[in-house]
Amino acid sequence: MTLHRLAPRIVTANPLLTLSGVTRRFGTLTALDEVSVEVFPGEVLGIVGESGSGKSTLLRLMNLEDAPDAGVYSLNLPQTPGNLFALDRFDRRMLCALHIGIVYQNPHLGLRMGHSSSGNVAERLLIAGERRFSVLRGKGQQALEASEFPLERMDSPPSELSGGMQQRVQLAKAIALEPALLLLDEPTTGLDVSVQAAVLDTLKGLQRDRRITIVIVSHDLGVIRVMADRVMVMRHGRVVEQGLSDQVFQDPQHPYSQQLVQAKL
Ligand SMILES: Nc1ncnc2c1ncn2[C@@H]1O[C@H](COP(=O)(O)OP(=O)(O)OP(=O)(O)O)[C@@H](O)[C@H]1O
Ligand SMILES: [Mg+2]
Repeated sequence: MTLHRLAPRIVTANPLLTLSGVTRRFGTLTALDEVSVEVFPGEVLGIVGESGSGKSTLLRLMNLEDAPDAGVYSLNLPQTPGNLFALDRFDRRMLCALHIGIVYQNPHLGLRMGHSSSGNVAERLLIAGERRFSVLRGKGQQALEASEFPLERMDSPPSELSGGMQQRVQLAKAIALEPALLLLDEPTTGLDVSVQAAVLDTLKGLQRDRRITIVIVSHDLGVIRVMADRVMVMRHGRVVEQGLSDQVFQDPQHPYSQQLVQAKL
């Protein structure tokens, strides 16, 4: 049984993001099978599920890096027309640069490892058309500070930084343009427990202060429990359950969610 359990606070708003009937196939494999998702302004949606369940594929589609075989994507923002999947490549890249930030598990996907950390953040501002050096430097510093990155390291390339610091540079790049939507794909997986906790703290602080809308993917239920208001459970490319975090963790309805929660206890 699939349950749609929404908080009263959430149902009063229009969704910021709506994906309807999204299917993505790779050859004979159906990685996403008619997935529909709504994400509401200011909420944190957590996506959990076993390896290969389609979580990253879904996030890549939300980031307009990939196109589905079927489905519709809309963002409730000014000048973001109709089905975003129908936009051409240039418009997709621009829209994505302006409104969406992403942090990948693998920093090589999100950063130029040999460029300075501040340069990585400035790149995001350059894409948006900013050319004034003082603004690039100033806004870049602000984003690094908000990501609790030590500014004395801003000229160091990510290749010389620890994993936790690399994730903070990715985060700074992602939030530099104050995006409406922040996508996090296993942002702390592979980090030491204490580093993971510190990065999650930063993310929670940012979310609290800016009411930024976040979609976070993790196979770690502990991370989702700390971060998410609402949870969506995926299996074999389908959404098997979604609801408020407390409800899903305390009273999972689908046998697969029950298994996941049991395994965590
Ligand atoms: N570019 C691709 N080409 C072929 N198959 C792909 C591609 N990307 C993903 N897949 C397949 O689609 C399925 C879903 O992959 P996806 O990376 O979305 O899973 P995931 O839930 O993020 O898993 P993990 O927890 O391991 O990151 C997997 O079977 C994967 O092998
Ligand atoms: Mg993944």
